[in-house]
Amino acid sequence: MSNLISLLGLQWGDEGKGKVVDHLAKDLKAAVRYQGGHNAGHTLIIGGDKVVFHLLPSAICHQEIKCYLGRGVVVSLDALFKEIEDAKKYLGEIEERLIVSRACSLIQSYHIKLDQLREKSPISTTIGTTGRGIGTAYEDKVGRKSIRVQDLYTETRLKDKLEENLDFYNFIFTNYLEDKKEDINQVLDRNLQQAEILRPYVGNVIADIHDHVSKQEKILFEGAQGALLDVSLGTYPFVTSSNSSIGGIAPGVGIDPRMIDYSLGIAKAYTTRVGEGPFPTELDDSVGEHIAHVGGEVGATTGRPRRCGWLDAVLLSHTVKLNGIDGICLTKIDVLDGLDEIKICTDYEGSSLSELLETMLIEGVNPSYISMPGWEKPCAGIREYEALDDRAKSYIEKIETLCGAPIVMISTGPRREDTIVRQYPL
Ligand code: IMP
Repeated sequence: MSNLISLLGLQWGDEGKGKVVDHLAKDLKAAVRYQGGHNAGHTLIIGGDKVVFHLLPSAICHQEIKCYLGRGVVVSLDALFKEIEDAKKYLGEIEERLIVSRACSLIQSYHIKLDQLREKSPISTTIGTTGRGIGTAYEDKVGRKSIRVQDLYTETRLKDKLEENLDFYNFIFTNYLEDKKEDINQVLDRNLQQAEILRPYVGNVIADIHDHVSKQEKILFEGAQGALLDVSLGTYPFVTSSNSSIGGIAPGVGIDPRMIDYSLGIAKAYTTRVGEGPFPTELDDSVGEHIAHVGGEVGATTGRPRRCGWLDAVLLSHTVKLNGIDGICLTKIDVLDGLDEIKICTDYEGSSLSELLETMLIEGVNPSYISMPGWEKPCAGIREYEALDDRAKSYIEKIETLCGAPIVMISTGPRREDTIVRQYPL
């Protein structure tokens, strides 16, 4: 029996983590986000309406679950308040069960402005960020000048920090990016106003989580983005700015890393990516278009079309290994229904894999594939493993062998019930 569970995307994000949370929710007492910000996006259907949350854990939809934003999350208060309003509309009051760490770094207006200006600048590398100030806010965190939640409640400290920050940002905006200055008084007033709205949600995440632990309650650490977007382990520089792998949990929440006793990885049955960066198995043909169309592959945060390609077992086995994955949930297998041939990348021809995986400089590699026959009987909506077409089973079992981890759950459609559970992770 596991009590502390990590839920991690094993590719470039958008693996369908939200649906898995939904599946586990009945057994959870707490869900914690530990990295990223409102660059994530999970679409939820509540009472027939489509609601997208970017910052709140997807577990917020479940009344019995306490939701935490740990210290590793960068928080835009504008985004947070909008989501709280949406959540209240659909779910009722959430004040008692949403706790934001006093230590979270805040995304300020100048972070968003710099992120967007830099992406447009002809001399900066275009990453294809979500333009939400995530990277720039983390730069300040590492640069030791973040404004953190607790700073909002000491006006002199807040003012001093804003002055220090704006001195730098306004220099960049005016001298380098030919843009307008930010007005310190306006930024200060906005922070002070927002501090009061935020107050009821501010708390001590470390103490609360350890309290859940002492009561032996089940806690889910909900990763955002995916392991290949991890700033340290991913396809740098085309990554997000936080540790989206398992290693982000301990410092992003404040727990002993050895307490995590089950690591659940989520992988799509194929691969997608949004934004720039290498993607060895990308399909620029009608099969890629078919997958994008059937899979509805459009970014929940930015509305950008997602790039699509075959499953890359070189990268997936790597992220399985680095994240100590105990079980994989394979999602969207039904999207491959109807294809005559399905490929899996098993090697990059003529390259030293250990060297490539050290640097993750995988642009231009030459993927080699195994080819498997498509299946006749659709997987869509199937809920028992035994009911799958033998060829679909072969595909699943091949991925297990190549990646070295059992596939414990398989998602066969968008509805919660469209799921095969081979081994319940909790
Ligand atoms: P940033 O996180 O906005 O700085 O963007 C950096 C990269 O991460 C870009 O390629 C984004 O498209 C990608 N990214 C950020 N969040 C997500 C996500 O939730 N899903 C998929 N890609 C993401």
